[in-house]
Formats: sequence, C-alpha cells, structure tokens
Amino acid sequence: MNLKLLVKGGHVVDPSTGLDQICDVLVDNGRIAAVGDALPAPEEHCTVLDATGLVVAPGLVDLHIHLREPGFEDKETIATGCAAAARGGVTTVVAMPNTRPATDCPEMVARVKEKAALTGVTVYPAAAVTVGQKGEALTDFQALWQAGVPALTDDGVPIQNLALLRQAMQQARTLGLPILDHCEDKDLVRNYAVNEGVVSQQLGIPGRPAIAEELQVMRDVMLSKDTGARVHICHISTAGTVDIIRRAKAEGISVTCETCPQYFTLIEEEILRQGAMARVNPPLRTASDRDAILEGLKDGTIDAIVTDHAPHCAWEKAQPLEQAPSGMVGLETSLGLALTYLYHAGHMSLMDVINRMSTAPAALLRLPKGTLQVGQHADLVIFHPDEVWTVDRDAFASKGRNTPFHGFQLQGKVKYTISMGQIIYQED
Ligand code: DOR
Ligand code: ZN
Repeated sequence: MNLKLLVKGGHVVDPSTGLDQICDVLVDNGRIAAVGDALPAPEEHCTVLDATGLVVAPGLVDLHIHLREPGFEDKETIATGCAAAARGGVTTVVAMPNTRPATDCPEMVARVKEKAALTGVTVYPAAAVTVGQKGEALTDFQALWQAGVPALTDDGVPIQNLALLRQAMQQARTLGLPILDHCEDKDLVRNYAVNEGVVSQQLGIPGRPAIAEELQVMRDVMLSKDTGARVHICHISTAGTVDIIRRAKAEGISVTCETCPQYFTLIEEEILRQGAMARVNPPLRTASDRDAILEGLKDGTIDAIVTDHAPHCAWEKAQPLEQAPSGMVGLETSLGLALTYLYHAGHMSLMDVINRMSTAPAALLRLPKGTLQVGQHADLVIFHPDEVWTVDRDAFASKGRNTPFHGFQLQGKVKYTISMGQIIYQED
C-alpha cells in the first residue's frame, strides 16, 4: 500500500530553494510530491498532519556521529543511535569508522548499511583512511568509493604521518572523495583531558593547547592547496582555526569545516562544574574562542553544524576526569541547542540554522538530502520553534547519557521526524 502524507499549514523553511512561507507539503511513495498552498488531501490512504504553528524543514543531516557498532555495543548500537537521531529530527547521519573492527573495507561498509537499513534513518558509513585506523597503510579508496562511502576519515585516531596523509589526499582527489580530518597533534595533546589554559592551571594538570588544533588545520589547508583534494575539518573549536579557514576560503582553497553545539554554547570552565561529563576532544575552549565560533557560523566560514555524538557508558564517564573517555552525546539536543543559542539568541535566522544543519552538510558530501524539492526524498523534521523544554538524559533513546546539557532549558522542540515518507519519530 502506498501511503501518502499531507503536512498542512506549517511554516515551510527550505534552504535549497529559499522557500520560507506557510504552506502544505504532500508526500507520496517516499518522495516529496508537491509543495504549495491549500493542497487537497488525496482521497485514499492519506495521513494528514496538522502543522499549524510548527516549522516544516528538510530532515537534519549530521555529518559526524559515532554509532559504536560493531565492537562497543555497550555504549551504543546502530539501532539505539538511529533512534536517538530520529528523536533529534536527524534523518541522515554519517557514521565514523572508529568501531572494532574499523570500517575500513567494503564488507564492513555493507555490514553497517545492512543493520542501518532496519532503522528508518539513512546511514552513510564514512570509511577509514588507513587500515584499522592504524595510520600505517592506506585503505582501498577505489573499492570503498564503489561501496558508496561519501568520505574518508580516521576520526577518533587522527593521521599524524604527513607522507601518508598527502598520499591519501592525492588518491582521494582522483575519486572526488573528501577527507574529513580530526585536527589535533598527537604529541601536543597526548591523552590530556582539558584545554590548556586557566582550568588546566587551576587543576594542576596538562592541557590540550589551541595550537595543537591550529597547526594541523594549517597543515591540512596547505596540503589541500598542494594536492587539490577536498578537505573538511572536523569539529573546529578555536578562534585561530576559524581565522585560518576564513583566509583559506578567501584564497579559493577547497577546505570546509564543521563545529558542534558544545563549541558555541560552553567554555572550559564547564569542566569545573561537570568534570568528565564536559570532557571532549577537541576540548571546550575559552569565551573568546566560543565567540569566534559564533562569528564563523554567522559569516559562513563554518559550513555545517554536526554533533560528534560520542556515547560512552555511565561507569566510564564516572571515572576521574583524567581517566574518563572524551566525548558527549548530541543527537537529541542539537536542534534545541542551535535554535536556542543561534536563532533565539538573535545570531542567525531560522533559514540559516536549517541550512547549516541540513542543506549545506548534504551538499558538502553530495548526498541527495537536505531539500524539499518535488521528486526528492521525503525527509522532514517538524518542530515547534518556540516551545521550551528541559533536557532529560534519562529520556534519551541513545544508550549514552553523557551530556553536559542535562537540565538545560531549550527553546525549540521536535514534534515529528519523517524519513523517506515514514514517520520515524512522533512526540508522545
Ligand atoms: O571526544 C571525542 N570522542 N572526540 C573524538 O574525536 C572521538 C570521540 C569518540 O569516539 O569517543
Ligand atoms: Zn573527532
């Protein structure tokens, strides 16, 4: 049976066309069938959703999440991670390869996709740049490209060997595949828990300096210029990085970047309040870094907002700051945080926020997503832009409860998530 869905009277925001008005959206057979005023409901098998007072936008596209399966199912599974995505209005995710085994061959890509196909969320596995993410030998880019990966990355275990990285960029360029790079110099950051600054001083522990990120970003910019490869810098966190990327873009170098909600909402002092719960790589930085990240979002230097959703077990995060793993979950709070801190705070329009969370990231990896144009996949997020709610980590669909935003009041709440024409989440 071919189910139809008519979303009536919502405020439709589509950055791919610039549409920003109250109208209806008709979905048929998993695709957008029509967008317009007062669309009549088809007579048969049509669900009608009243979206009065709600925003209707393309489903969110999160280019950076960790699903943990296979290998770390106690932290998250493909099923629970995708349920978290659905709850957050996210219909498409790019899953990082730092699983066990790593996603470094077509068989592993197929395995992740097969499991993900049962979830309703579209999962694109990103493949490792090096075999087992060991930083020694390149994976078979051609075979991975044929297996449909949208990008290559060693996120979680960033590549340090420059000869290997340059060779990777040369090969990736011939296939048109971008490299997503987690930029932190291993020797400068070791396994340190926090930013190098007032908090590391106060705690009397070594920290991860901003320069550890910026040196690698500069390196990547120069290698991108040298090789012509498309390089996308993961989760940027410092003012210096924003500056480097802004200048590189002005020079026409094909570098793009993303940041996460934690870098435009929190600063390093959060560690003093929340300890390991606020530990993440790269670390929370200073207020001036946060302000520069905001500027970078406003002026378009930062292309995408992603979560770096990184679930860990409660017992792992309960360890002392220096032993606990880095990372925070993000899928179920990203839209609320972006609406609260970017839109309601007056920094960005609704259109701009949706663009940075859906249309722009889809375009970066050339995914057929992030649009409500007729004929395209019917992936939608429907949210109340003004409703205030309180983050409750115990209500998460994710297995990960490691959020520093527990108890935060956010403004903007997901009501429905629709993927390929199916309602995959509906608020209780
Ligand atoms: O904080 C982080 N956690 N940063 C990363 O790059 C990896 C991630 C993880 O896999 O836990
Ligand atoms: Zn990373």
